[in-house]
Amino acid sequence: MTNRIYNFNPGPSTLPVEVLDIIQKELLNYKNTGISILETSHRSPEYEEVNNTAISLLKELMCLGDEYHILFVGGGASTQFSHIPINFLTDGKNAAYIDTGIWSTKAILEAEKIGEVTIAGSSKDLGYTYIPCQEELKLLPDSAYLHVTSNNTIKGTQWHSFPVTNGVPLICDMSSDICSREIEYSQFAMIYAGAQKNLGPSGVTIVIIRKELMNQCNENLPTMFDYQTHIKKSSLYNTPPVFSIYSMKLVLEWIKKLGGLQAIGKINQSKKDIIYNLIDTFPDFFRGTVRNDSRSWMNITLRLPSEELEQRLVVKAKEAGFIGLKGHRSVGGIRVSMYNAMSLEGVQKVAEFMENFKNNN
Ligand SMILES: Cc1ncc(COP(=O)(O)O)c(C=O)c1O
Repeated sequence: MTNRIYNFNPGPSTLPVEVLDIIQKELLNYKNTGISILETSHRSPEYEEVNNTAISLLKELMCLGDEYHILFVGGGASTQFSHIPINFLTDGKNAAYIDTGIWSTKAILEAEKIGEVTIAGSSKDLGYTYIPCQEELKLLPDSAYLHVTSNNTIKGTQWHSFPVTNGVPLICDMSSDICSREIEYSQFAMIYAGAQKNLGPSGVTIVIIRKELMNQCNENLPTMFDYQTHIKKSSLYNTPPVFSIYSMKLVLEWIKKLGGLQAIGKINQSKKDIIYNLIDTFPDFFRGTVRNDSRSWMNITLRLPSEELEQRLVVKAKEAGFIGLKGHRSVGGIRVSMYNAMSLEGVQKVAEFMENFKNNN
């Protein structure tokens, strides 16, 4: 505990110390079974309890009812880029996508391999520095679904209100902001997210599907690619990533104990305010890269006056005990990733470090 540093990595990212402590305590002998959870069968009552608790905590925190299936699968969010069109892009239909950055583009490329895709909106014209507004979208009434990426991890933008689709099922890649604040999660027909940013370690992908959406699911799909398989077997058709799901359950319990999504949302809001404040106070030095109305609460992207200064900041930050501040290799600059488990204190300290860095350079 004493020699931990502040981890601003964009994912896998920092985990709550309280959770790591529990994992450590329970590791050798999980709940008096005499074995570790790492060695526990996915068919055991112990794992069944973990699986069921994680499902009910997600439903409770996100205010989702029994009209949703909750699945825990492997393959990362990237696998869902293909699974979604394979399952829901039916013959004669088109799938609509909004292109807000690198992850949306990847999802689009996979869907194009399966069927007809229409681009309902894009912010490519300005280097993905904003989120398109409702009036800019070209929605078709008969699309099989509309896909959005709620938080653009690399570009630093985030949807703050989602498209109104007039009945077209809304599907959301929520990999980098799931459970980071209170929103109306029931506006989505499907939500998916890798756990490794806001909810736990890597290895498990959360897939939430409104039961009604399954009515438009393609049939006779390869077994593992068919959502029906995982729904029928409660995510136990094959061996799930037990340790990741167990760790995620502990993170969900930690969020609940803090006061749920309302409480975590308030903390996340205070965290992003600290860094955007720095950008707004010293705009010549800390140059925010995205439009104000599209600013992400999770990944704040900025440039300094020179690349040399950016490199120096990353090096000096590491020496001072802050890692992970380098922008994505495709865009450069600085990125401050602040997921659920990053403390307010960590953000205050990094902001202090950044201001001192500015004064000394
Ligand atoms: C928004 C978003 N979608 C998808 C992915 C890919 O996730 P995975 O590595 O779990 O496939 C990422 C990873 O950073 C992401 O940020």
